[in-house]
Amino acid sequence: MAMDLTQTELLAELEPVVAANIDRHLATVKDWCPHDYVPWDEGRNFAAMGGRDWDPEQSRLSEVARVAMITNLLTEDNLPSYHRVISENFSRDGAWGTWVGRWTAEENRHAITMRDYLVCTRAVDPVSLESDRMVHLTRGVHAPEYFSGVLDQVAYVTFQELATRVSHRATGRVCDDPIADRMLQRIAADENLHMMFYRNITGAAFDIAPDQTMESVTKIVKTFAMPGTGMPNWRRNGVLMVKHGIYDLRQHLDEVLMPVLRIWNVFKRTDFTARGERSREELAEYLDKLGRDVIRFEEQRARILAREAARVG
Ligand SMILES: [Fe+2]
Ligand SMILES: [Fe+2]
Repeated sequence: MAMDLTQTELLAELEPVVAANIDRHLATVKDWCPHDYVPWDEGRNFAAMGGRDWDPEQSRLSEVARVAMITNLLTEDNLPSYHRVISENFSRDGAWGTWVGRWTAEENRHAITMRDYLVCTRAVDPVSLESDRMVHLTRGVHAPEYFSGVLDQVAYVTFQELATRVSHRATGRVCDDPIADRMLQRIAADENLHMMFYRNITGAAFDIAPDQTMESVTKIVKTFAMPGTGMPNWRRNGVLMVKHGIYDLRQHLDEVLMPVLRIWNVFKRTDFTARGERSREELAEYLDKLGRDVIRFEEQRARILAREAARVG
């Protein structure tokens, strides 16, 4: 039976793929500045600077749009935690280290831009936004115990980057403001490039260590949770976002899990041993069940929305 590759071996084998994908990424990515996406002439001083403090009437965003914006921004804000986990599971040396730095710098731009937009346009309460940020970052994000090593990490971030892309795009649509929509499209385009980077690394890992990678992917798919889990008001806000299709189970299955699994050719690979086969079967069973859950979830949501519409009517 083939022996598992160690973390050091995996990192070394994957490093040329990382280097090639950094080159590809840098040739594709667009350099942009936060200030190009923020309507600064709408800005006014707050009370401490002789102006007026925030009050709810100043916001043009609907409740769903506000909640989705805050959730997405706090998720971006927690970058120090992600940076820590990623640099522990990758490496700070060579191409891996270069990517960790570059990715961190790009992600930081997302939080800067969204916060500038929200505070400048008075779309949300800046005081509670700041106190939520303090709570969320002080707590930090901690990977569960079963999550360790480069394969778990690249598999997780592939799905997570794609999930944030979907959620930023959907948030842009519910804002009903062309400026917000344009800003979130810009950010979502970055997330898509990040997803492609991690998807390519995971794809190469499948070729280098098929069984090990299959086991990581199955584990990550079965336990996937958004990185914002546990932030202030997570449950209440999550329910609202699911109800309005910012990020729901249908999107998770159809727009995130399945397209990526298809590109990795998971269900047609012929290079697994019995171990990889077992893990693939486990994944297939899980996806079947998720497919049934999605149908149940959509029926339930349709009933709730119909009831609410009847009440309003
Ligand atoms: Fe981001
Ligand atoms: Fe990203």
